Amino acid sequence: MKRIMLSVAVAMLAAATCMWAQPTEDERVEELLRKMTLQEKIGQLNQLSVGGFDHNAAGMMRAGMVGSILNECNPNVLNRYQRAAVEDSRLGIPLLISRDVIHGFKTMFPIPLGLAATFDPELVQQGARFAAIEATASGIRWTFSPMLDIARDPRWGRIAEGSGEDTYLDTQMGVAMVKGYQGETFDQTSMAACVKHFVAYGAAEGGRDYNSTGVSERTLRNVYLPPFEACVEAGVMTLMTSFNDNDGIPSTGNGFLVNDVLRGEWGFEGFVVSDWASIYEMVNHGYAEDNKHAGELAFNAGVDMDMMSYAYIRHLEELINEGKVSMEDLDNAVRNILRVKFRLGLFENPYIDESNVEAAFYSEEALEAARKSAVESAVLLTNNGVLPLNRSKVKTVLVTGPMADAPHDQLGTWTFDGDPAHTVTPLKALKQLYGNDVQVIYEPGLKYSREFDKGGIAKAVKAAKKADVILAFLGEEAILSGEAHSLVDISLKGDQRKLLEALHETGKPVVLNIMAGRSLVLDFEIEHSDAILYSFHPGTMGGPAIAQLIFGDETPSGKTPVTFPKHVGQIPLYYNHNMTGRPANGREELLHEIPLKAGQTSLGMTSYWLDCPFAPEFPFGYGLTYTTFKYSAPEIEKTEYGVNDTVHACVTVRNTGDKEAIEVVQLYVRDLVGSVTRPVKELKGFKRVAIAPGETVKVAFELDIQDLAFYGKDMVKKVEPGKFQLWIAGDSASGTPIEFEVK
Ligand code: NOJ
Repeated sequence: MKRIMLSVAVAMLAAATCMWAQPTEDERVEELLRKMTLQEKIGQLNQLSVGGFDHNAAGMMRAGMVGSILNECNPNVLNRYQRAAVEDSRLGIPLLISRDVIHGFKTMFPIPLGLAATFDPELVQQGARFAAIEATASGIRWTFSPMLDIARDPRWGRIAEGSGEDTYLDTQMGVAMVKGYQGETFDQTSMAACVKHFVAYGAAEGGRDYNSTGVSERTLRNVYLPPFEACVEAGVMTLMTSFNDNDGIPSTGNGFLVNDVLRGEWGFEGFVVSDWASIYEMVNHGYAEDNKHAGELAFNAGVDMDMMSYAYIRHLEELINEGKVSMEDLDNAVRNILRVKFRLGLFENPYIDESNVEAAFYSEEALEAARKSAVESAVLLTNNGVLPLNRSKVKTVLVTGPMADAPHDQLGTWTFDGDPAHTVTPLKALKQLYGNDVQVIYEPGLKYSREFDKGGIAKAVKAAKKADVILAFLGEEAILSGEAHSLVDISLKGDQRKLLEALHETGKPVVLNIMAGRSLVLDFEIEHSDAILYSFHPGTMGGPAIAQLIFGDETPSGKTPVTFPKHVGQIPLYYNHNMTGRPANGREELLHEIPLKAGQTSLGMTSYWLDCPFAPEFPFGYGLTYTTFKYSAPEIEKTEYGVNDTVHACVTVRNTGDKEAIEVVQLYVRDLVGSVTRPVKELKGFKRVAIAPGETVKVAFELDIQDLAFYGKDMVKKVEPGKFQLWIAGDSASGTPIEFEVK
């Protein structure tokens, strides 16, 4: 008995010791921090770009002068660098290896703007998971994604990299990507996400990349910041500051945003990295005297890691000695970075199995998710009934246009690692999937999107005469959008319009597919085609997705994540604008008050252009499919609510055509009177619903009154009681509102 008691006591002691022997993440951070020299601490804050194995860079790692690297993804090189940091440095702190994995690593998914058109966060999360599985197999444990910049200007090339113009949609997509990259639980396939660019970078004046912005604090809080806050709540591990100066303060030196809002108000516990050289660029902005001063401003603003300005590694020690930067803040920055490294398990598993890397690429499951994403991201903008093609009637198709067989360009911007050899183009897919039933003739007309005619158009026209239907693939090469690739003219480049016009003149039906990195001006294209399927840059599996949509084996369900302007001069044009005092439309009661003389067609002194309609070409949230839907008026269970109530709203949607299809049912709200002017409509919910022909489904939404809170005159976030309108519709420009009141 004594012996049993003794062994129980020993076991309990062992368990206690064992528990005691498992320090928490914070304890491990503190233990390590205690051992670090000042130089080693500063080293953790330094991020270095490397290309290939560089002995100097490896030397810095051995000396503990590098915390993270970017731009290298060769597993063997990465293991060598990691060995220098882990085995040859004094404290063996692993490197955090990063890369821009933006819409896939090897298997490329549609560009983020296309992903937003899916209105399918679950699918987007799944895509980000596959990106993480492929990238982490190569040793990448940190991606600079999602980009949460709201973009209301399609001239801005980076509109391709975000989720478009709407705060709610952007939030859903951003959170989905964070969850997908990081995984629901941390393991070896978890890749830290990085929300960027903090903040308002997408509001660049004139749509010119890197340009200044002038967004007020209220608009920041109501429009630009909520996606970041939601991702912080979802546990995003890192955040990147932006290049722009907003209202005169470069974001990388903006302590109000980083220290006060991000950490103070939202309790962010991850770390903040600058954008590439954006610390140094504060010198160019005329905000800092030199790189040392820029380092001081960035560090004291709360930026933990320096991406390629060398400001911290060169000047932080001096700044500490001069008392301009505190040791306490330095320790906190190091803590923030080490915490992420521990959470990712880098100390336990710093290396990758080089023999197993390729097995993770281009799996059947990833390719299928990419195909599905490309299907769901395609938006059917127009259709006179030509689509879907009838396989029993269409015997010959002409495939033409510079994007029909452009394996690199259909992958879109930020395609570092996706191998075009794996791309399935529309031409290839049409032949593979439908080649037995339908003869596919190929004549490109133009070789690339900016090309001017060198005789190819005549050849395409000649070939068109032999075809029943023309499938024209036009758009933008990958390099026409993305970082530093802004445009002033957002219509099709080169002689693409000439090609389209010539094809249209043949009298054959023209199905136009557009692959692009932004919303384009499409007035000419609408006139000269029978249908337009807009697939953004659809990624590796764009070809099968588009081919299946064209032949009706898949049904379009994408909706525009941005407003499509009629004319570039309308920009910025976005659905959730504030109401002017002289609205050009949408306020009939006002227009009725304006007496119109007989024969007068002008609306008078209202907010419109003389030479262009007020309305966009296609509104936000718009997209057709192969059937039609009829919406009932929305219903709510009562018309008065308290601030903590929930509105239960519903609508019935009937499929009035003869094809099953998915409809993205959208809920919008307007706050009729506020302490500041409010948007004419704001998206507050959406659901993808499959509806069979003839079927009527009831679609229900729950809207918390608290979701109507905003920063008003006093800059405090709250719901302002009063009247609201609510729509449930298939896009932002349709539907009849119902009214309710918050007491
Ligand atoms: C600059 C870009 O603005 C940023 O988004 C990107 O992550 C970094 N370069 C690193 O490549």
